Amino acid sequence: MDQPRVALISGGNRGIGLAICAALSERGVRVYMGCRDIAKAQQAIDHHQLSSVTPVMLEVTDEDSMVRVIEHIETEQGRLDLLINNAGIARGVRDKVSEEELTQIRATFEVNFFGTWRLTQKALPLLQQSGDPAHIINISSGYGSSEKVVDTNLAYCSSKAALNAFTRALACELEGSSVKVTCMTPGWVRTKMGGMGAPRTPKEGADTVIWLALEGGGEHGGFYKDREPFPW
Ligand SMILES: NC(=O)c1ccc[n+]([C@@H]2O[C@H](COP(=O)([O-])OP(=O)(O)OC[C@H]3O[C@@H](n4cnc5c(N)ncnc54)[C@H](OP(=O)(O)O)[C@@H]3O)[C@@H](O)[C@H]2O)c1
Repeated sequence: MDQPRVALISGGNRGIGLAICAALSERGVRVYMGCRDIAKAQQAIDHHQLSSVTPVMLEVTDEDSMVRVIEHIETEQGRLDLLINNAGIARGVRDKVSEEELTQIRATFEVNFFGTWRLTQKALPLLQQSGDPAHIINISSGYGSSEKVVDTNLAYCSSKAALNAFTRALACELEGSSVKVTCMTPGWVRTKMGGMGAPRTPKEGADTVIWLALEGGGEHGGFYKDREPFPW
């Protein structure tokens, strides 16, 4: 492949998304870092001395923002090889299922499910015209697995379960095409979301993404953790 691969990462300015951007840029990928504050994203890029990383405004609850980003990448690169749906929120993580607010569940679905699904829809034509194999990687969670049942935070768990269902359905639709679709969970990671007590670094959390994205790891339609299949 002569041209560098081109990647878009939603929520790339901090946490696991930033570690994914850093690892991809180290491996020669042309990275578009989705963010909601260009100045802060540029600070992160400068701080980590990342090369070939461009911050782009991307609010996943705003369709115009998604369309602008995809058009921008198409104009600059004419291709997109990797879409990494990383942006996510977790609110009210200790809220009991019976007490959780409808507004909280809706707000969480807006980002974790609808945002990911809509961004993927908008990006798919450019991924399909890449000319080389392309890949969509959805960042899910162990809490999206049907084997992990807890009595709190229905918003987060059900939004990630819906994201998993979306991954499998899209993989079914794209079977045999040039676009691979996978999903992964990073484990419990030290970020604003995961908290400082989490055992994993963002770089460790990003490892399976890099394996899927650049090392040919994983099967189309699979769910992974630590480079191994993970139960849906
Ligand atoms: N940390 C963990 O232990 C853990 C475990 C399992 C799964 N995950 C998943 O891993 C992914 C990354 O999590 P993280 O721990 O790195 O979280 P984080 O540090 O809180 O970062 C979340 C990122 O998502 C962005 N974001 C949030 N809402 C957005 C929106 N409406 N539009 C665009 N971007 C938005 C944030 O942007 P701003 O900076 O602008 O807010 C930020 O860049 C998430 O999908 C999460 O569910 C995390």
